[in-house]
Amino acid sequence: MALQLNSGGATLALIKPDAFGAGHANDIVQLTLKAGFTVHSQRTMQLTPELAEEFYAEHKGKHFFPILVDFMTSGPLCAMKLGKPGAVKAWRDLIGPTNSNVARDTKPESIRAMYGTDGTKNATHGSANDGDASRELDFFFPDPAATPTGKQAAADAA
Ligand code: PPS
Repeated sequence: MALQLNSGGATLALIKPDAFGAGHANDIVQLTLKAGFTVHSQRTMQLTPELAEEFYAEHKGKHFFPILVDFMTSGPLCAMKLGKPGAVKAWRDLIGPTNSNVARDTKPESIRAMYGTDGTKNATHGSANDGDASRELDFFFPDPAATPTGKQAAADAA
C-alpha cells in the first residue's frame, strides 16, 4: 500500500456510524468548515469486519476491540480528508476527548460532547499523529492509480 506524504497539513476524519446514522453528518461538516478546515476528499462507505480490524489493528487484543469493530461495522460512515495547518491536532481539539461522557464534562462545545453518547459511540475519529494520518488517509483514499484490492472493491460495492 503506497503511503501519501503528509507534512502535517492533513488528517483523516471519520463521522462514525452513530453520528452518521442519526443524521448529524451535515452539522458536523458545517462545524468543521467553520473551524477553518478544507474538505479535500469525502467518501461514504460501510466497513466490513475485515477492514475495521485492519484499520484498528494497533488495538487488537485490547478488551474493547470486538466492541469497536462491531460498532464501526454497524452502519455507513463518512470519511474525510481534512486540510488545515496543524490539521491533526486542530481536528482532535475540535472533536474533544475520546469518551463523549468525559467530553460533555470537560469540553461541552466539542463535537464528541454534542453528537456522541459514551466511550463506544463517540461520533468521530481523528488521526493521532502525522504518521497515522498518512496511513489512515491512504487506507480510505488510496492512490487512484493503484489497483483496488479485493477488500476495497467489496467495501465500495456494499
Ligand atoms: S487506548 O487504549 O488508550 O489506545 O485507546 P483509546 O485511544 O482511548 O481509543 C482507541 C480507539 O478505541 C476506541 N475505544 C473504544 N471503542 C469501544 N468501546 C470502548 N470501551 C472503547 N474504548 C476505546 C476509541 O473510540 C478509539 O477509537 P477512535 O476511532 O480512534 O476514536
